[in-house]
Amino acid sequence: MTTTFPDGFLWGGATAANQLEGAYAEGGKGLSIQDVMPHGITTPPTEGPTPDNLKLEGIDFYHRYAEDIALFAEMGFSVFRFSIAWSRIFPQGDETEPNEEGLAFYDRVLDELEKHGIEPLITLSHYETPLHLAREYGGWTNRELIGFYERFARACFERYGSRVKYWLTFNEINSIVHVPFMSGGIPTPVEELSKSDLYQAIHHELVASARVTRLAHELAPGSQIGCMVIAMPTYPLSPDPRDALAAKQAEHTNYAFGDIHCRGYYPGYLLRFFRDNGIEIEITDADREDLTNTVDFVSFSYYMSVCQTADPAKQATGEGNIMGGVPNPTLEASEWGWQIDPVGLRIVLNDYWDRWQKPLFIVENGLGAKDQLVEVDGVKTVEDDYRIAYMNDHLVQVGEALKDGVNLLGYTSWGPIDLVSASTAQLSKRYGFIYVDRNDDGSGTLERFRKKSFGWYGDVIRSNGGSL
Ligand code: BG6
Repeated sequence: MTTTFPDGFLWGGATAANQLEGAYAEGGKGLSIQDVMPHGITTPPTEGPTPDNLKLEGIDFYHRYAEDIALFAEMGFSVFRFSIAWSRIFPQGDETEPNEEGLAFYDRVLDELEKHGIEPLITLSHYETPLHLAREYGGWTNRELIGFYERFARACFERYGSRVKYWLTFNEINSIVHVPFMSGGIPTPVEELSKSDLYQAIHHELVASARVTRLAHELAPGSQIGCMVIAMPTYPLSPDPRDALAAKQAEHTNYAFGDIHCRGYYPGYLLRFFRDNGIEIEITDADREDLTNTVDFVSFSYYMSVCQTADPAKQATGEGNIMGGVPNPTLEASEWGWQIDPVGLRIVLNDYWDRWQKPLFIVENGLGAKDQLVEVDGVKTVEDDYRIAYMNDHLVQVGEALKDGVNLLGYTSWGPIDLVSASTAQLSKRYGFIYVDRNDDGSGTLERFRKKSFGWYGDVIRSNGGSL
Protein backbone atom coordinates (compact mmCIF):
# COMPACT_ATOMS: atom_id res chain seq x y z
CA MET A 1 0.00 0.00 0.00
CA THR A 2 1.40 3.38 -0.91
CA THR A 3 1.22 6.19 1.61
CA THR A 4 2.06 9.87 1.73
CA PHE A 5 2.48 9.82 5.51
CA PRO A 6 6.13 10.08 6.50
CA ASP A 7 7.96 7.40 8.50
CA GLY A 8 7.66 8.09 12.20
CA PHE A 9 4.36 9.95 11.78
CA LEU A 10 2.70 9.90 15.20
CA TRP A 11 -0.78 8.32 15.29
CA GLY A 12 -2.97 8.29 18.35
CA GLY A 13 -5.74 9.90 20.35
CA ALA A 14 -6.29 12.91 22.62
CA THR A 15 -8.06 13.36 25.94
CA ALA A 16 -8.25 15.76 28.90
CA ALA A 17 -8.04 14.86 32.58
CA ASN A 18 -11.33 16.46 33.55
CA GLN A 19 -13.24 14.62 30.85
CA LEU A 20 -12.15 11.08 31.63
CA GLU A 21 -10.29 10.64 34.92
CA GLY A 22 -13.14 11.03 37.41
CA ALA A 23 -11.88 10.54 41.00
CA TYR A 24 -12.41 14.26 41.43
CA ALA A 25 -11.68 14.20 45.15
CA GLU A 26 -9.18 11.32 45.34
CA GLY A 27 -5.43 11.41 45.79
CA GLY A 28 -5.52 14.82 47.42
CA LYS A 29 -6.97 16.49 44.32
CA GLY A 30 -8.52 19.92 44.82
CA LEU A 31 -11.57 21.18 42.95
CA SER A 32 -11.17 22.45 39.42
CA ILE A 33 -13.56 24.73 37.57
CA GLN A 34 -14.94 21.64 35.81
CA ASP A 35 -16.16 20.23 39.11
CA VAL A 36 -18.72 23.05 39.20
CA MET A 37 -19.71 22.91 35.51
CA PRO A 38 -22.32 20.10 35.46
CA HIS A 39 -23.68 21.15 32.08
CA GLY A 40 -20.55 22.43 30.42
CA ILE A 41 -20.90 25.94 29.09
CA THR A 42 -24.67 25.73 28.73
CA THR A 43 -25.49 26.78 32.31
CA PRO A 44 -23.66 28.95 34.90
CA PRO A 45 -21.26 27.23 37.31
CA THR A 46 -22.66 25.83 40.55
CA GLU A 47 -21.40 26.71 44.02
CA GLY A 48 -19.82 23.28 44.58
CA PRO A 49 -19.86 19.81 42.99
CA THR A 50 -23.36 18.45 42.28
CA PRO A 51 -24.43 14.82 41.64
CA ASP A 52 -25.53 15.61 38.06
CA ASN A 53 -21.92 16.43 37.09
CA LEU A 54 -20.69 13.46 35.02
CA LYS A 55 -17.11 14.68 35.16
CA LEU A 56 -16.82 13.86 38.85
CA GLU A 57 -16.62 10.18 37.90
CA GLY A 58 -15.81 10.64 34.19
CA ILE A 59 -15.12 7.24 32.69
CA ASP A 60 -13.00 6.32 35.72
CA PHE A 61 -9.74 6.45 33.79
CA TYR A 62 -8.09 7.21 37.14
CA HIS A 63 -8.56 3.57 38.09
CA ARG A 64 -8.79 1.98 34.61
CA TYR A 65 -5.92 3.68 32.78
CA ALA A 66 -3.99 0.41 32.32
CA GLU A 67 -6.92 -1.30 30.60
CA ASP A 68 -7.56 1.75 28.40
CA ILE A 69 -3.94 2.23 27.39
CA ALA A 70 -3.77 -1.48 26.49
CA LEU A 71 -6.72 -0.91 24.12
CA PHE A 72 -4.95 2.10 22.57
CA ALA A 73 -1.88 -0.09 22.10
CA GLU A 74 -4.04 -2.72 20.42
CA MET A 75 -4.95 -0.09 17.79
CA GLY A 76 -1.24 0.61 17.37
CA PHE A 77 -1.08 4.10 18.93
CA SER A 78 2.37 5.65 18.84
CA VAL A 79 1.23 8.75 20.77
CA PHE A 80 -1.33 9.51 23.47
CA ARG A 81 -2.33 13.05 24.34
CA PHE A 82 -3.60 13.69 27.86
CA SER A 83 -3.60 16.56 30.30
CA ILE A 84 -2.26 16.78 33.83
CA ALA A 85 -5.00 18.01 36.13
CA TRP A 86 -3.45 21.11 37.68
CA SER A 87 -5.54 20.61 40.85
CA ARG A 88 -4.06 17.11 41.37
CA ILE A 89 -0.58 18.61 41.54
CA PHE A 90 -1.46 21.90 43.25
CA PRO A 91 -4.93 21.31 44.77
CA GLN A 92 -5.67 25.00 45.33
CA GLY A 93 -3.23 26.30 42.76
CA ASP A 94 -1.34 28.69 45.03
CA GLU A 95 0.56 26.23 47.26
CA THR A 96 4.34 26.25 47.22
CA GLU A 97 4.83 22.45 47.25
CA PRO A 98 3.24 19.93 44.88
CA ASN A 99 1.01 17.08 45.99
CA GLU A 100 3.03 13.85 45.80
CA GLU A 101 -0.01 11.61 45.30
CA GLY A 102 -1.01 13.58 42.24
CA LEU A 103 2.47 13.42 40.76
CA ALA A 104 2.61 9.68 41.41
CA PHE A 105 -0.59 9.07 39.44
CA TYR A 106 0.93 10.45 36.24
CA ASP A 107 4.10 8.43 36.90
CA ARG A 108 1.89 5.35 36.71
CA VAL A 109 0.24 6.53 33.49
CA LEU A 110 3.66 7.21 31.95
CA ASP A 111 4.91 3.77 33.07
CA GLU A 112 1.99 2.16 31.28
CA LEU A 113 2.57 4.17 28.10
CA GLU A 114 6.25 3.30 28.17
CA LYS A 115 5.40 -0.38 28.50
CA HIS A 116 3.51 -0.16 25.20
CA GLY A 117 6.01 2.12 23.44
CA ILE A 118 3.50 4.99 23.27
CA GLU A 119 4.88 8.52 23.24
CA PRO A 120 3.13 10.90 25.68
CA LEU A 121 1.93 14.32 24.53
CA ILE A 122 0.98 16.35 27.58
CA THR A 123 -1.29 19.38 27.83
CA LEU A 124 -0.49 21.41 30.93
CA SER A 125 -3.77 23.29 31.07
CA HIS A 126 -6.88 21.86 29.46
CA TYR A 127 -9.92 23.82 30.69
CA GLU A 128 -9.25 22.79 34.29
CA THR A 129 -7.89 25.75 36.26
CA PRO A 130 -8.04 25.08 40.03
CA LEU A 131 -11.35 26.49 41.27
CA HIS A 132 -9.64 28.42 44.05
CA LEU A 133 -7.65 30.40 41.49
CA ALA A 134 -10.87 31.25 39.66
CA ARG A 135 -12.88 32.23 42.75
CA GLU A 136 -10.17 33.92 44.85
CA TYR A 137 -7.97 35.47 42.18
CA GLY A 138 -10.32 36.10 39.24
CA GLY A 139 -8.59 33.49 37.11
CA TRP A 140 -6.21 34.63 34.40
CA THR A 141 -7.21 38.30 34.73
CA ASN A 142 -4.81 38.23 37.68
CA ARG A 143 -1.08 38.48 36.93
CA GLU A 144 -0.32 36.22 39.89
CA LEU A 145 -1.57 33.27 37.84
CA ILE A 146 1.60 33.44 35.74
CA GLY A 147 3.72 32.51 38.76
CA PHE A 148 1.33 29.78 39.92
CA TYR A 149 1.24 28.24 36.46
CA GLU A 150 5.01 28.43 36.16
CA ARG A 151 5.36 26.61 39.48
CA PHE A 152 2.97 23.91 38.27
CA ALA A 153 4.87 23.58 34.97
CA ARG A 154 8.19 23.40 36.81
CA ALA A 155 6.91 20.56 39.00
CA CYS A 156 5.84 18.69 35.85
CA PHE A 157 9.07 19.29 33.94
CA GLU A 158 11.20 18.32 36.95
CA ARG A 159 9.24 15.14 37.51
CA TYR A 160 8.48 14.00 33.96
CA GLY A 161 10.85 16.02 31.78
CA SER A 162 13.20 13.11 31.16
CA ARG A 163 10.40 10.90 29.81
CA VAL A 164 8.16 13.37 27.97
CA LYS A 165 9.24 15.13 24.81
CA TYR A 166 6.04 16.86 23.60
CA TRP A 167 4.20 19.44 25.72
CA LEU A 168 1.32 21.85 25.03
CA THR A 169 0.90 24.91 27.21
CA PHE A 170 -2.83 25.83 26.98
CA ASN A 171 -5.56 23.89 25.25
CA GLU A 172 -7.40 25.94 22.59
CA ILE A 173 -6.00 29.16 24.01
CA ASN A 174 -8.07 31.30 21.62
CA SER A 175 -11.35 29.97 23.04
CA ILE A 176 -10.96 32.33 26.01
CA VAL A 177 -12.52 35.08 23.88
CA HIS A 178 -15.80 33.13 23.87
CA VAL A 179 -15.74 31.00 27.03
CA PRO A 180 -13.65 32.94 29.58
CA PHE A 181 -14.64 30.81 32.58
CA MET A 182 -13.90 27.42 31.03
CA SER A 183 -10.83 28.61 29.18
CA GLY A 184 -9.39 31.18 31.57
CA GLY A 185 -11.05 30.55 34.95
CA ILE A 186 -12.55 34.05 34.77
CA PRO A 187 -15.68 34.13 36.94
CA THR A 188 -17.14 37.31 35.37
CA PRO A 189 -19.91 36.38 32.90
CA VAL A 190 -18.77 36.98 29.31
CA GLU A 191 -21.31 39.76 28.69
CA GLU A 192 -20.03 41.70 31.73
CA LEU A 193 -16.34 41.15 31.07
CA SER A 194 -14.61 44.26 29.69
CA LYS A 195 -12.42 43.81 26.64
CA SER A 196 -9.48 45.25 28.57
CA ASP A 197 -9.86 42.61 31.30
CA LEU A 198 -10.26 39.88 28.70
CA TYR A 199 -7.15 40.89 26.77
CA GLN A 200 -5.20 41.36 29.98
CA ALA A 201 -6.02 37.75 30.85
CA ILE A 202 -5.01 36.66 27.36
CA HIS A 203 -1.76 38.55 27.75
CA HIS A 204 -1.06 36.80 31.05
CA GLU A 205 -1.62 33.41 29.42
CA LEU A 206 0.64 34.29 26.50
CA VAL A 207 3.41 35.44 28.82
CA ALA A 208 2.94 32.32 30.96
CA SER A 209 3.10 30.13 27.87
CA ALA A 210 6.33 31.78 26.72
CA ARG A 211 7.88 31.55 30.18
CA VAL A 212 7.21 27.85 30.55
CA THR A 213 8.52 27.30 27.02
CA ARG A 214 11.82 28.75 28.19
CA LEU A 215 11.62 26.74 31.41
CA ALA A 216 11.04 23.46 29.55
CA HIS A 217 14.02 24.10 27.30
CA GLU A 218 16.15 24.71 30.40
CA LEU A 219 14.90 21.84 32.55
CA ALA A 220 14.19 19.25 29.85
CA PRO A 221 16.65 19.67 27.01
CA GLY A 222 15.26 18.23 23.80
CA SER A 223 11.67 18.87 24.80
CA GLN A 224 9.35 20.29 22.16
CA ILE A 225 6.79 22.84 23.27
CA GLY A 226 3.71 23.65 21.25
CA CYS A 227 0.91 26.16 21.44
CA MET A 228 -2.61 24.82 20.87
CA VAL A 229 -5.37 26.72 19.10
CA ILE A 230 -8.84 26.02 17.77
CA ALA A 231 -8.47 26.05 14.01
CA MET A 232 -11.62 27.25 12.36
CA PRO A 233 -11.14 28.45 8.81
CA THR A 234 -13.45 31.37 8.09
CA TYR A 235 -14.71 31.77 4.55
CA PRO A 236 -16.38 34.89 3.14
CA LEU A 237 -20.11 34.19 2.82
CA SER A 238 -20.06 35.75 -0.67
CA PRO A 239 -17.43 37.08 -3.13
CA ASP A 240 -18.18 40.64 -1.92
CA PRO A 241 -14.78 42.08 -0.78
CA ARG A 242 -16.48 43.37 2.36
CA ASP A 243 -17.32 39.78 3.27
CA ALA A 244 -13.74 38.77 2.51
CA LEU A 245 -12.53 41.50 4.87
CA ALA A 246 -15.00 40.41 7.57
CA ALA A 247 -13.64 36.87 7.20
CA LYS A 248 -10.05 38.11 7.41
CA GLN A 249 -10.82 40.11 10.56
CA ALA A 250 -12.43 37.08 12.17
CA GLU A 251 -9.35 35.02 11.24
CA HIS A 252 -7.15 37.67 12.84
CA THR A 253 -8.89 37.17 16.19
CA ASN A 254 -7.63 33.58 16.06
CA TYR A 255 -4.32 34.12 14.23
CA ALA A 256 -3.22 36.57 16.94
CA PHE A 257 -2.57 33.67 19.33
CA GLY A 258 -0.43 31.71 16.89
CA ASP A 259 1.31 34.85 15.66
CA ILE A 260 2.42 35.83 19.16
CA HIS A 261 3.44 32.27 20.03
CA CYS A 262 5.44 31.87 16.83
CA ARG A 263 6.81 35.37 16.26
CA GLY A 264 7.21 36.55 19.83
CA TYR A 265 5.47 39.93 19.56
CA TYR A 266 2.03 41.49 19.11
CA PRO A 267 0.95 41.86 15.46
CA GLY A 268 -0.02 45.32 14.17
CA TYR A 269 -3.62 44.32 13.43
CA LEU A 270 -4.12 43.41 17.10
CA LEU A 271 -2.64 46.69 18.31
CA ARG A 272 -5.04 48.48 15.97
CA PHE A 273 -7.92 46.42 17.39
CA PHE A 274 -6.86 47.59 20.87
CA ARG A 275 -6.77 51.24 19.75
CA ASP A 276 -10.11 51.04 17.94
CA ASN A 277 -11.80 49.46 20.94
CA GLY A 278 -10.21 51.52 23.72
CA ILE A 279 -8.50 48.41 25.08
CA GLU A 280 -5.69 49.17 27.49
CA ILE A 281 -3.57 46.45 28.97
CA GLU A 282 -0.36 46.32 30.94
CA ILE A 283 2.55 44.94 28.93
CA THR A 284 5.87 45.32 30.75
CA ASP A 285 9.35 45.28 29.22
CA ALA A 286 9.93 41.97 30.98
CA ASP A 287 6.76 40.62 29.33
CA ARG A 288 8.06 41.66 25.91
CA GLU A 289 11.30 39.87 26.61
CA ASP A 290 9.46 36.75 27.82
CA LEU A 291 7.32 36.62 24.69
CA THR A 292 10.40 36.12 22.54
CA ASN A 293 10.54 32.52 23.79
CA THR A 294 8.64 31.17 20.84
CA VAL A 295 7.17 27.69 20.48
CA ASP A 296 8.77 24.74 18.69
CA PHE A 297 5.60 23.63 16.95
CA VAL A 298 1.97 24.60 16.46
CA SER A 299 -0.81 22.22 17.42
CA PHE A 300 -4.50 22.65 16.83
CA SER A 301 -7.95 21.13 17.05
CA TYR A 302 -10.04 20.97 13.92
CA TYR A 303 -13.73 20.15 13.82
CA MET A 304 -15.42 22.62 11.51
CA SER A 305 -15.26 25.79 9.46
CA VAL A 306 -17.54 28.84 9.42
CA CYS A 307 -18.39 31.83 7.22
CA GLN A 308 -18.39 35.55 7.88
CA THR A 309 -20.26 38.42 6.30
CA ALA A 310 -20.27 42.20 6.59
CA ASP A 311 -24.04 42.20 6.16
CA PRO A 312 -25.70 42.54 9.60
CA ALA A 313 -28.91 41.00 8.22
CA LYS A 314 -27.07 37.71 7.58
CA GLN A 315 -25.22 37.54 10.89
CA ALA A 316 -26.87 34.35 12.18
CA THR A 317 -24.58 32.19 14.30
CA GLY A 318 -24.29 28.44 14.01
CA GLU A 319 -25.78 26.09 16.57
CA GLY A 320 -23.48 24.38 19.06
CA ASN A 321 -20.36 26.21 17.99
CA ILE A 322 -18.56 28.05 20.81
CA MET A 323 -16.65 30.30 18.41
CA GLY A 324 -19.53 31.98 16.61
CA GLY A 325 -19.57 32.41 12.83
CA VAL A 326 -22.22 32.16 10.13
CA PRO A 327 -23.24 28.66 8.93
CA ASN A 328 -21.97 27.64 5.51
CA PRO A 329 -24.88 26.92 3.13
CA THR A 330 -22.82 24.29 1.26
CA LEU A 331 -22.02 22.02 4.22
CA GLU A 332 -23.80 19.34 6.25
CA ALA A 333 -23.61 19.39 10.03
CA SER A 334 -23.22 16.88 12.87
CA GLU A 335 -26.11 16.19 15.24
CA TRP A 336 -24.77 19.07 17.35
CA GLY A 337 -24.70 21.53 14.44
CA TRP A 338 -20.93 21.41 13.84
CA GLN A 339 -20.46 21.77 10.10
CA ILE A 340 -18.41 19.01 8.49
CA ASP A 341 -15.66 20.23 6.18
CA PRO A 342 -12.77 17.85 5.42
CA VAL A 343 -11.29 20.17 2.77
CA GLY A 344 -11.11 22.88 5.42
CA LEU A 345 -8.51 20.76 7.21
CA ARG A 346 -6.25 20.81 4.14
CA ILE A 347 -6.76 24.58 3.94
CA VAL A 348 -5.82 25.05 7.62
CA LEU A 349 -2.71 22.89 7.29
CA ASN A 350 -1.50 24.85 4.28
CA ASP A 351 -2.42 28.16 5.82
CA TYR A 352 -0.63 27.54 9.13
CA TRP A 353 2.45 26.09 7.44
CA ASP A 354 2.64 29.05 5.02
CA ARG A 355 2.15 31.51 7.85
CA TRP A 356 4.40 30.15 10.60
CA GLN A 357 6.80 27.65 8.98
CA LYS A 358 6.76 25.60 12.18
CA PRO A 359 5.98 21.88 12.34
CA LEU A 360 2.27 21.29 12.87
CA PHE A 361 0.44 18.71 14.97
CA ILE A 362 -3.28 17.92 14.63
CA VAL A 363 -4.12 17.17 18.25
CA GLU A 364 -7.92 16.95 17.98
CA ASN A 365 -10.35 15.96 15.26
CA GLY A 366 -13.36 13.69 15.32
CA LEU A 367 -17.10 13.31 15.21
CA GLY A 368 -19.37 13.57 18.22
CA ALA A 369 -22.37 11.32 17.57
CA LYS A 370 -25.09 9.31 19.32
CA ASP A 371 -23.95 5.70 19.14
CA GLN A 372 -26.08 2.59 19.46
CA LEU A 373 -24.60 -0.44 21.19
CA VAL A 374 -25.61 -3.60 19.24
CA GLU A 375 -24.67 -7.26 19.28
CA VAL A 376 -22.88 -8.73 16.25
CA ASP A 377 -21.99 -12.44 16.39
CA GLY A 378 -22.46 -12.36 20.14
CA VAL A 379 -20.08 -9.41 20.59
CA LYS A 380 -21.25 -5.96 21.69
CA THR A 381 -20.12 -3.20 19.36
CA VAL A 382 -21.19 0.00 17.59
CA GLU A 383 -21.51 0.08 13.80
CA ASP A 384 -20.18 3.59 13.49
CA ASP A 385 -19.71 3.85 9.74
CA TYR A 386 -20.54 7.59 9.98
CA ARG A 387 -17.50 8.12 12.21
CA ILE A 388 -15.28 6.09 9.90
CA ALA A 389 -16.50 8.16 6.93
CA TYR A 390 -15.87 11.45 8.77
CA MET A 391 -12.37 10.49 9.83
CA ASN A 392 -11.43 8.86 6.55
CA ASP A 393 -12.47 11.99 4.62
CA HIS A 394 -10.45 14.21 6.94
CA LEU A 395 -7.37 12.01 6.84
CA VAL A 396 -7.48 11.88 3.03
CA GLN A 397 -7.24 15.68 3.12
CA VAL A 398 -4.33 15.44 5.57
CA GLY A 399 -2.61 13.24 2.96
CA GLU A 400 -3.24 15.94 0.35
CA ALA A 401 -1.71 18.58 2.61
CA LEU A 402 1.35 16.38 3.07
CA LYS A 403 1.67 16.24 -0.71
CA ASP A 404 1.40 20.06 -0.67
CA GLY A 405 4.58 20.04 1.40
CA VAL A 406 3.17 20.71 4.86
CA ASN A 407 5.37 19.57 7.76
CA LEU A 408 3.11 17.58 10.08
CA LEU A 409 4.28 15.64 13.15
CA GLY A 410 1.19 13.62 13.87
CA TYR A 411 -2.54 13.20 14.35
CA THR A 412 -4.40 12.48 17.58
CA SER A 413 -8.14 12.02 17.16
CA TRP A 414 -10.34 13.55 19.84
CA GLY A 415 -11.65 11.17 22.43
CA PRO A 416 -10.33 7.77 21.25
CA ILE A 417 -12.46 6.42 24.07
CA ASP A 418 -15.90 7.88 24.88
CA LEU A 419 -15.63 10.60 27.50
CA VAL A 420 -17.61 13.52 28.87
CA SER A 421 -18.13 16.35 26.39
CA ALA A 422 -16.59 19.73 27.15
CA SER A 423 -19.29 22.04 25.83
CA THR A 424 -22.40 20.15 26.97
CA ALA A 425 -20.97 17.72 29.59
CA GLN A 426 -22.88 14.82 28.01
CA LEU A 427 -21.70 11.26 27.61
CA SER A 428 -24.11 10.67 24.75
CA LYS A 429 -21.95 12.91 22.54
CA ARG A 430 -19.51 10.13 21.81
CA TYR A 431 -16.25 10.42 19.86
CA GLY A 432 -14.51 7.15 20.72
CA PHE A 433 -13.29 4.06 18.93
CA ILE A 434 -14.08 2.47 22.29
CA TYR A 435 -17.62 2.61 23.67
CA VAL A 436 -17.97 3.20 27.40
CA ASP A 437 -21.14 2.00 29.08
CA ARG A 438 -22.10 5.17 30.86
CA ASN A 439 -25.15 7.29 30.13
CA ASP A 440 -26.16 10.90 30.59
CA ASP A 441 -28.09 10.02 33.76
CA GLY A 442 -24.89 8.54 35.21
CA SER A 443 -26.07 4.93 34.92
CA GLY A 444 -23.95 2.19 33.31
CA THR A 445 -21.31 -0.39 34.14
CA LEU A 446 -18.34 1.58 32.73
CA GLU A 447 -17.50 -1.51 30.67
CA ARG A 448 -15.54 -0.86 27.46
CA PHE A 449 -16.47 -2.22 23.99
CA ARG A 450 -14.60 -1.96 20.68
CA LYS A 451 -16.58 -0.11 17.99
CA LYS A 452 -16.25 -0.86 14.27
CA SER A 453 -14.02 2.23 13.96
CA PHE A 454 -11.57 0.57 16.38
CA GLY A 455 -10.56 -1.94 13.70
CA TRP A 456 -10.63 0.70 10.98
CA TYR A 457 -8.26 3.05 12.87
CA GLY A 458 -5.94 0.14 13.66
CA ASP A 459 -5.68 -0.57 9.93
CA VAL A 460 -4.96 3.10 9.19
CA ILE A 461 -2.19 3.15 11.76
CA ARG A 462 -0.63 -0.17 10.80
CA SER A 463 -0.54 0.87 7.11
CA ASN A 464 0.69 4.39 8.07
CA GLY A 465 -2.26 5.89 6.21
CA GLY A 466 -2.00 3.52 3.27
CA SER A 467 -5.47 2.07 3.85
CA LEU A 468 -7.23 5.44 3.55
C1 BG6 B 1 -12.32 20.82 22.04
C2 BG6 B 1 -11.77 20.58 23.41
O1 BG6 B 1 -13.05 22.01 22.08
O2 BG6 B 1 -13.24 19.96 21.50
C3 BG6 B 1 -12.16 19.27 24.03
O3 BG6 B 1 -10.40 20.79 23.49
C4 BG6 B 1 -13.56 18.90 23.61
O4 BG6 B 1 -11.99 19.38 25.42
C5 BG6 B 1 -13.60 18.75 22.12
O5 BG6 B 1 -14.08 17.80 24.25
C6 BG6 B 1 -14.96 18.36 21.57
O6 BG6 B 1 -15.91 19.23 22.06
P1 BG6 B 1 -17.20 18.70 22.83
O7 BG6 B 1 -17.85 19.90 23.36
O8 BG6 B 1 -18.01 17.99 21.80
O9 BG6 B 1 -16.70 17.79 23.88
